[in-house]
Amino acid sequence: MTGSVTVTRRSPIRVLSIDNPPVNGLGAAVRRGLAEELERALADADVDAIVIAGRGKMFCAGADIREFGQDPPPDTPHLPDVIDAIEASTKPVVAAIHGVAAGGGLELALGCHARVASSDARVGLPEVTLGIIPGAGGTQRLPRLIGVEAALELIVSGKLIPAAEAKKLGFIEEVIHEDGDGDVVEAAIAHAQTITTPRRSSEGELDTDEAVFDAVKKSIAKKARGFDAPYAAIDAVRAATELPIREGFARERAIFLGLVNSDQARAQRHVFFAERAVAKVPDVPKDTATKDIRRVGIVGCGTMGGGIAMSFADAGIPVIVLETEEAALDRGLQSIRGVYESSVKKGRISKEEMDARLGRLQGTLEASELNDADIVVEAVFESMEVKVDVFRRLDEICKPDAILATNTSTLDVNEIADATKRPENVIGTHFFSPAHIMKLMENVRGKKTSPETVATVMKLSKRLGKVGVLVGVCDGFVGNRMLYAYRRQADFLLEEGALPQQVDGALYDFGLPMGPFAMADLAGLDIGWAIRKRQAPTRPKDLRYSPIADRICEMDRFGQKTGAGWYRYEPGSRTPIPDPEIEKLVIDVSAELGFERRTIDDTEIVNRCMYALINEGAKILEEGIALRPGDIDIVWIYGYGFPRYRGGPMFYADTVGLDKVYEFMAKLYQEQGEWAKPAPLLEKLAKEGKSFKDYADSNPA
Ligand code: CAA
Repeated sequence: MTGSVTVTRRSPIRVLSIDNPPVNGLGAAVRRGLAEELERALADADVDAIVIAGRGKMFCAGADIREFGQDPPPDTPHLPDVIDAIEASTKPVVAAIHGVAAGGGLELALGCHARVASSDARVGLPEVTLGIIPGAGGTQRLPRLIGVEAALELIVSGKLIPAAEAKKLGFIEEVIHEDGDGDVVEAAIAHAQTITTPRRSSEGELDTDEAVFDAVKKSIAKKARGFDAPYAAIDAVRAATELPIREGFARERAIFLGLVNSDQARAQRHVFFAERAVAKVPDVPKDTATKDIRRVGIVGCGTMGGGIAMSFADAGIPVIVLETEEAALDRGLQSIRGVYESSVKKGRISKEEMDARLGRLQGTLEASELNDADIVVEAVFESMEVKVDVFRRLDEICKPDAILATNTSTLDVNEIADATKRPENVIGTHFFSPAHIMKLMENVRGKKTSPETVATVMKLSKRLGKVGVLVGVCDGFVGNRMLYAYRRQADFLLEEGALPQQVDGALYDFGLPMGPFAMADLAGLDIGWAIRKRQAPTRPKDLRYSPIADRICEMDRFGQKTGAGWYRYEPGSRTPIPDPEIEKLVIDVSAELGFERRTIDDTEIVNRCMYALINEGAKILEEGIALRPGDIDIVWIYGYGFPRYRGGPMFYADTVGLDKVYEFMAKLYQEQGEWAKPAPLLEKLAKEGKSFKDYADSNPA
């Protein structure tokens, strides 16, 4: 049990401060401390009012998530009971909020009779992002304070909002500027002395307009597809409109308890901690010196180069983009402008913001102009020859301590680094397309990449608002290497009896934003084709190879950009339409290869694709290409839209059971040979009855 509640006597006010670094989580000791100190303050005739505050960085980030799923120590009060006691207090209780009041932290504040916040504070109920709902009265008190519609918006989105916005909505009474108006605790003390009759948020009736609930459901349909918690939160708020407060609390608690140990909540908790763990690199300590990145060079202004340039400009970092020909440079810069103009039209950014971002972008045809860049990101054609040539030139032009980064998605970063005299300053920064939107960066550490370079680029990812995952060198790194294994099974399923729309449908229903064939059409089929042609001479002839994708390219169908690929597309539309021509091709290929087509159900599709994906993940883990199973999960959640409520592929594997995954792959291995060979780590863990979590716990990165 960690944490405590410290008491400051400021007669006639008593200040109770939560002290449980780093985020003042409401762990068992804190709950007990609050309950006991409240009782003491109430019993003390010298105390007129009470202020609840937080020590350190923030007021309180809510329940201690680490305690979920564990039985609390005996005699520890539950949070709802602590909050009830606060609300019932006959002496005024005021919350003094600074930093963050989130989840149970805000619910605690809602139980107080008033809330005073510093202007930089952010408040909200992010529980849905953890697969649960506010479980300490939030869904019942907040609607009574600010109305059903505004409360739904906050609870269902899980967003933290600035204190000023919360004041406008009506659940913060006073906002102070810490420098100007003084200290938030002092302000709360002063506020407490003005309260004559405590105002209790659980009192009052609510008007109901049924249409509000339907409208919210409709508005979240796309984003919340597959998630239980947002819908459960709507039910809880509905209860606030239908039931007396005590019954409403009980209904909220029942929904909360029904979710807290569900697979979805466990998965989302895992993602919460995995997102934070990913930034930690064991042999690169937190205090490793990093380089200042003030100016950035980008080589290549195509789709990737342009997207990467925008990522930097959006983060306030000046960028210079190099192209070899004027026409290509103009085209690239024009398309960047087009993206910004469309953002202005959609109201996402202001015209001034667009001008500021464009002002940070400069194009050049002169490589020498990259000489003062602190980091240069290469985004040219995916060919070792071309990249080696670019890196040799960059090595000559760039200042000696500049970092040289490659956006390669498949090539050997060590070979690229060895083309320079500064391999310690060379690293892969694999952005995902569209680079200004996708949040994932695979930061690829080469054999000689220095800790300083790793630390700088990991920090830079954060500055760009992205999630940087450190990976090792191999073909396709983590994401694409696993994608190959997954996609291969999808291709084989076509030959055996499925059609593209069926495979895509099954994986969409599993929770992915789109299936592999719709995704291939979106990305374009030509690059993969070029790679396969290059690999053809060395491809092992005894291994199964599906020719369907090549045949589609031979028909000049390269995906959405040509209006046809695995599907056909109406002009100007991105909606895939199943195409009889492709269905015929698939059936013809089955016949040519001697497959007797059979009915394949969605479960087989999902299992084949997912288990192959997991199996490759296990190989990646064992080879040390990824540091932790959670890192692989983060790559798939941020890079490929793997459903967060399933926790990523490796967490999903644990929920399925590794024995089941292993047995499936062992059987597939007998049919397909090497492609489906079970990863030794998967076999080992399965036979020992262990999970990837057990592996992570016993091999801390
Ligand atoms: N419980 C346990 N640990 C927590 C935590 C929590 N509620 N919130 C954060 N932490 C941990 C993080 O894991 C991290 O640990 P490490 O340093 O070991 O990695 C550390 O605290 C710092 O967290 P961040 O790196 O996220 O710090 P930040 O300053 O960037 O962000 C924050 C601060 C906005 C509060 C962010 O931590 C956050 O969003 N926390 C979760 C808030 C939340 O979801 N609260 C609801 C909890 S559920 C609940 O309260 C249910 C209920 O109804 C009772």
